[in-house]
Amino acid sequence: MKIDVLTIFPEFFTQVFEFGIIRRAKLASIVEINVHDIREFAVDKHKMTDDRPFGGGDGMVMKPEPIFAAVERLLGTTDRDEYPKGTRVVMLSPQGRPLTQEIAKSFAENAYHLVLICGPYEGVDERDNETLVTDEISIGDYVLSGGEPAAVVLTDAVVRLLPEALGSETSAENDSFSNGLLDCPHYTRPADFRGMKVPEVLLNGNHAEIEKWRLERALEKTKRNRPDLIERRKW
Ligand code: ADE
Repeated sequence: MKIDVLTIFPEFFTQVFEFGIIRRAKLASIVEINVHDIREFAVDKHKMTDDRPFGGGDGMVMKPEPIFAAVERLLGTTDRDEYPKGTRVVMLSPQGRPLTQEIAKSFAENAYHLVLICGPYEGVDERDNETLVTDEISIGDYVLSGGEPAAVVLTDAVVRLLPEALGSETSAENDSFSNGLLDCPHYTRPADFRGMKVPEVLLNGNHAEIEKWRLERALEKTKRNRPDLIERRKW
């Protein structure tokens, strides 16, 4: 998979993809990640990327020209109907549909090329969304000061699901959300830590009992922290 990030803050990303699973996936050529400065695609001599909103109001709006130019350079077209197969152009914004494990999985399984546009705090010209963007995505019902942290979140959620990214010792099958529930609690040594004991069932080696316990605890935690998931679950 190839991921191109468009941002006005390229320095934000200098370290963030250099750790853990993403770093390993890059080194193993499972993913290639490139970060591009939107400002380099600005058309006027002052390299301006934003302007005042039509109709008045507070703040500024990112101009369409630099984003169109960047997408044209990356994909050879600005018409989303003509993108190469497996291409998704994602606008990170609080107006998007909420990111879920299902969306991350669908990108990991079906996309070869992601172009992630980090909308600035002020917002972007809607013609970007009308023409270039295939998916407008939000990472939650709160407002960030820019789409950059959201692009990192989406990249992480997708890359770890790419075949081979997790390595053979781990698997995404038991992750939270993969079966519609939160993950069950986990414990490691010591079995008695400051008087707090690990549940007995995990020590007795009875795998059927352990599986039953894990499902019960996952249900209990989901009911407590995310009752909405229980209601939505397809039984
Ligand atoms: N930009 C600002 N807030 C955001 C959010 N919640 N998700 C994605 N991009 C954003």
